[in-house]
Amino acid sequence: MIKIHLRKIKPSDKNYFAKWWRDKGLLKLTSGILKMISDQEVNKYFQAILNNKNDYNFMVIADKEVIGHISLVKKQNDWHETQIVIGEKKYWSKGLGSRAIKILIGRAKKNGISKIYLEVRPTNFRAIKVYERCGFQKVKIIKYSKNKYLSETLRMELKFQFH
Ligand SMILES: CC(C)(COP(=O)(O)OP(=O)(O)OC[C@H]1O[C@@H](n2cnc3c(N)ncnc32)[C@H](O)[C@@H]1OP(=O)(O)O)[C@@H](O)C(=O)NCCC(=O)NCCS
Repeated sequence: MIKIHLRKIKPSDKNYFAKWWRDKGLLKLTSGILKMISDQEVNKYFQAILNNKNDYNFMVIADKEVIGHISLVKKQNDWHETQIVIGEKKYWSKGLGSRAIKILIGRAKKNGISKIYLEVRPTNFRAIKVYERCGFQKVKIIKYSKNKYLSETLRMELKFQFH
């Protein structure tokens, strides 16, 4: 069985993002913006992730290979937002995304985080299935009528109680 773990993001991970942020198959499932971004933009966005000390940013490692990125970003009222991308497509639908999210949830709990949400394209059925399996519940459709690339998302939430 493939071993999955999360490790903190580091500067040399930039190349993975440069590849994933230009992958149209991935972009269609996420932002929907298919315009190729420049090296300068990659640098800027990656540095912003790397330098951000408030959020959690982990690379998803399968055995020894980097296959994706998962984040947990602090929001208002004790909420955190999570996002996951398994960038290496050959690793899709092998249970690895579900396992990575469960590891992240475990770490969040240890850090006293009790409310996590995410937004997903309502047509991204694979992702929705994974999130439900990890305990997230469908809450509502959010309309972004001004965003021609992503006009609506499904908000899903996970809340847990500490005993
Ligand atoms: C979404 C993502 C994180 C899921 O991780 P994963 O490792 O591929 O998913 P898992 O293998 O853990 O589970 C996928 C489940 O969805 C099912 N599935 C696959 N395609 C599906 C589809 N089109 N419709 C419904 N279910 C589907 C699989 O059968 C599997 O369920 P099963 O284990 O009961 O058979 C990963 O595929 C990914 O990063 N995709 C690209 C980017 C993306 O969509 N990110 C999420 C943005 S919100």
